[in-house]
Amino acid sequence: MEKIKEGEVEIEVPEGRIYDKDVFYNPKMKFDRNLSVAVASVTKPEKACDALSASGVRGIRYKKEGEVPEVWLNDANEQAANLIQKNLKINNLNCETRKMDAAVLLREEKFDFIDLDPFGSPAEFLDAAASSIRKDGFLSITATDTSSFFGTYPRVSRRRYGRKSMNTDYNKELGLRILVSSIIESLGRYKKTFYPKICYSREHYARIFGEVIKGATEVQENFRNFGHISHCFSCGWRKDMLAEKCPNCGKRTEYVKVYMDKLNNENFCEKTMKEGRKRRFYGEGKFVEKLKNDQEIPYHYDIHYIAKKQGFNLKKMERIIEMLEGQGFKTTRSIYSPTAVKTEAEFKDVVRVFE
Ligand SMILES: C[S@@+](CC[C@H](N)C(=O)[O-])C[C@H]1O[C@@H](n2cnc3c(N)ncnc32)[C@H](O)[C@@H]1O
Ligand SMILES: [Zn+2]
Repeated sequence: MEKIKEGEVEIEVPEGRIYDKDVFYNPKMKFDRNLSVAVASVTKPEKACDALSASGVRGIRYKKEGEVPEVWLNDANEQAANLIQKNLKINNLNCETRKMDAAVLLREEKFDFIDLDPFGSPAEFLDAAASSIRKDGFLSITATDTSSFFGTYPRVSRRRYGRKSMNTDYNKELGLRILVSSIIESLGRYKKTFYPKICYSREHYARIFGEVIKGATEVQENFRNFGHISHCFSCGWRKDMLAEKCPNCGKRTEYVKVYMDKLNNENFCEKTMKEGRKRRFYGEGKFVEKLKNDQEIPYHYDIHYIAKKQGFNLKKMERIIEMLEGQGFKTTRSIYSPTAVKTEAEFKDVVRVFE
């Protein structure tokens, strides 16, 4: 074991850290934990649950830095449960602790902030979290099974999240929408719904933060934000509509129905950035600012992908942006990829600038 400092807490973690150890601790996730502390400070929960705690670092930071009055820490693993106790002592903090299946705990207790940070997919915990979360509560959910929702394994995505993923050039944003859609559907069964506030994919994981609202009418209303994205894998055409046949080349398309509204809420991003600044989380703040400024179009165009599908030579990004802007289409660099643009232009206009 070794003692490390993260944020304002000191914790003991297995030496050498990470995967093959008795208790999981990934130093790389500090970025995500910093951001989560800022988010918890914005939402000001009374009672939070770090349902899959491992060393307890996340929940302990919510308690100390997020100043959450009541924090529950849980991990089914015996060694983790013991380490959580130890780490609470080191920081001289009082939290409720449990050593049980997170899904069972969430069935028994109500919370107004739930953090799910599983190995792999959060799918098996969504139903319990949906039943536990209180009115106006908040969910923070990690998913590391990116190969399912980013499109490598579409059928695994259907099993876990209710819809097939698609390995398009905008698969990251689409994958986030698949996760959000599945969370909304889980909550809907409990007459609750979910509005994403900050969503991103980074390194090996995706993270979804959002607010829970209660009410059957609200559930119905939010389902109106669902719509289709159709994609032609033959020519690269895509559009936010249901089309079984590609209007560009006539081939059969693939499509998926997902949440189509904004993934990042401007106001919430600003508040998080402010909390981040207070704590000197500058990198995290910059990152959230980028998310905040993303264009409200549910897919981008990767210039390599389009050039390849259409058999054209590659043009410089700057030139493509300049040409599309020149035609009056708002066009920006995509936050999801350095080689992609988001533009108001239709597929045919995008293709034309390559000619
Ligand atoms: C990725 S780790 C959590 C990391 C931690 N949140 C952090 O930020 O360092 C996932 C943890 O979930 C625990 N776990 C897995 N399945 C569980 C279950 N059904 N109920 C409770 N804990 C579980 C594992 O023992 C492991 O410690
Ligand atoms: Zn086509």
